[in-house]
Amino acid sequence: MDIKKEIRRLLKEKDAVLLAHNYQIDDIQEIADFTGDSLGLSIEASKVKNKTIVFCGVHFMAETAYILSPDKKVLLPEIDAGCPMADMVTAEGLREMKKKYPGVPVVCYVNSSAEVKAESDICCTSANAVNVVKSLDTDKVIFVPDKNLGHYVSRFVDKEIILWEGYCPIHNRVTKKEILELKEKYPDAIFVAHPECPPEVVDLADHVCSTSGVYKYVKESDNKRFIIGTEEGVGYRLKKENPDKEFIFAYKGFQCKNMKKTTLKKIYDALIKEQYVITVDEVIREKALKSIKRMLDIPRNF
Ligand code: 13P
Ligand code: SF4
Repeated sequence: MDIKKEIRRLLKEKDAVLLAHNYQIDDIQEIADFTGDSLGLSIEASKVKNKTIVFCGVHFMAETAYILSPDKKVLLPEIDAGCPMADMVTAEGLREMKKKYPGVPVVCYVNSSAEVKAESDICCTSANAVNVVKSLDTDKVIFVPDKNLGHYVSRFVDKEIILWEGYCPIHNRVTKKEILELKEKYPDAIFVAHPECPPEVVDLADHVCSTSGVYKYVKESDNKRFIIGTEEGVGYRLKKENPDKEFIFAYKGFQCKNMKKTTLKKIYDALIKEQYVITVDEVIREKALKSIKRMLDIPRNF
């Protein structure tokens, strides 16, 4: 059986759409209806006309799709695809922090649970975090869970950002030393980093952006060589769209294990068995929806 063809056939038969994050394996990106960063995928999920969304990404992304489109059946082909950073903050922990800073608004990175989104004033992604924080009319902001993204935002706003001690284990693993060595080896290379990288790494970047921001930046650049400070999955489209350019990832094995758990076989099974259905408690969903919708009114930074 040609599994890719069979998946496409099942998608049509079941009136389903295949959404995939930029970190998914090449074979999945190849057959997806839409690939994108967290913001692009959220916008797409809110507009879907099909009955079912097959979400190839991690749990919080499928949950966000359901929050935006509760009348759709949202399927996550791999139920164990989580995000360790999202698990670093709980609603209870956040409520404790809010008690310490009464009246201070909470910005939560989309890499968080529905419960945490429900406890927050506004959501953000890597693509709009600076504009989201700027939109708040206060001199202090609580930012959860990514301390690195929060630190990145603090470079552009005249506000105190109260950080949570969360981080992405994959991006936080990039070191200044590695980047300096790569820059020395490839002096003509431009370094593009995701804002989940540590501040000392961001300091060395020529450009900082979301996963989809990398595509735009590289395409528009005349440079031929790039050091990429984000997960290897972006390599699929980078190579396809820029066959004449070279991409060197910040470290060997720059991979999110959770993003790589989804396979073609799992998508096939998801369509046949209609699994795993992602839902959110209605009270939580309505509160979380407010913080996501508020974000969607704010333009991208990149
Ligand atoms: P993007 O929103 O930039 O795609 O990032 C999501 C993510 O999980 C990065 O690690
Ligand atoms: Fe979460 Fe990091 Fe994986 Fe993104 S790369 S999904 S932040 S663990």
